[in-house]
Amino acid sequence: MENKVAIYGAYGHTGKFLVAQLYQQGFRPILIGRDADKLNILSKDYPDLVIKVADINHPETLDVAFADAEIIVNCAGPFLDTAEPIIQSAIRLGKHYVDVSAEQKAVLDIFEQFSEKAKQADITIIPAAAFYGGLGDLLSTTLTQGWDKVDEIALYIGLDSWHPTKGTRLTGERNHYQRFMFAENRLQPVLEVKSKIWEFPHPILRKEVVTVPLSEIITISRHINVNTINTYLSQNSLTDIRSDETPEPKPVDEKNRSSQRFCMEVVATKDNKQRSIIAEGIDIYAVTAPLIVEAIKRILTGKIKKQGVTTLGEGFDATDFLSALDADDIVISDIKETDIN
Ligand SMILES: NC(=O)c1ccc[n+]([C@@H]2O[C@H](COP(=O)([O-])OP(=O)(O)OC[C@H]3O[C@@H](n4cnc5c(N)ncnc54)[C@H](OP(=O)(O)O)[C@@H]3O)[C@@H](O)[C@H]2O)c1
Repeated sequence: MENKVAIYGAYGHTGKFLVAQLYQQGFRPILIGRDADKLNILSKDYPDLVIKVADINHPETLDVAFADAEIIVNCAGPFLDTAEPIIQSAIRLGKHYVDVSAEQKAVLDIFEQFSEKAKQADITIIPAAAFYGGLGDLLSTTLTQGWDKVDEIALYIGLDSWHPTKGTRLTGERNHYQRFMFAENRLQPVLEVKSKIWEFPHPILRKEVVTVPLSEIITISRHINVNTINTYLSQNSLTDIRSDETPEPKPVDEKNRSSQRFCMEVVATKDNKQRSIIAEGIDIYAVTAPLIVEAIKRILTGKIKKQGVTTLGEGFDATDFLSALDADDIVISDIKETDIN
């Protein structure tokens, strides 16, 4: 597993979770970023890993940095800036590409610009393979198995708090594009914000949730035949990230996770049937790492079902993928099915 994985943005908050988890599982990733000093600091913790400086404005530096890898993981956001140059390099070199983008437009652009080119280059590209974009897509896929047509997928994300990183704040500021909702079987500009009260299990409990146009709208709608997708986020977490006073996440455990708790519940309906599934865990940045690691292992062992641009739910066996995750990272409930009137 020497040098098979190249991580761009390796010294960022999310990048570091990924490096730690890959290293702990025996991978020896190549650590890449634009800042030599930050790479050197990270390198003190991983003296045996190769580091490379590469800049998205100098494509030749990207090609050199990625040359030895099989998979490029891009953890450097805003992805509206970094995804295109890095994917261009992946296509030139014939390497697979995975990222953690949370911006709808970045994910849409990747599908639109690179689907054909990725197929021609014989590579797989998976945007949004993370807490936002990826996890909800996996849950929705396993939940709707056997249903050829789904009336609604509603995704409820409850966070007890959200201390955003610098990258999250920058990405929010950079993303001033049209947001989309999914209704009547198609993407449409967001017209309204809906809110309701949702009962999450302990410790999140009862929360006001509001519709937020997340990247799951894009990933889920690419491959599930669904009429309507609604993505809700707890209002308290939006208040947190909108305040300049909210601090960055602080590590509190041996995996450097913060104390943040999350719960993601997905409810799917078809005719008079309703199914639901719940994923729970600690720290939405940290949990992105095991999702990416699982995707990497599956790509390297040929368990990917599709070439070109795809999603975690479409590209892999979603049920098997979720069951492979460690309960210390994420706990997934059984699927509950009920009749509704
Ligand atoms: N979908 C999800 O669930 C999910 C989960 C985690 C993170 N994310 C996304 O991942 C991104 C990073 O988040 P983070 O928490 O890791 O933030 P972070 O700690 O601030 O790290 C950001 C990283 O991106 C790099 N970067 C930013 N702009 C760059 C550019 N133009 N060229 C090269 N490198 C650039 C930074 O390098 P410098 O330090 O040199 O600027 C740094 O390595 C954000 O867009 C965030 O939304 C998404």
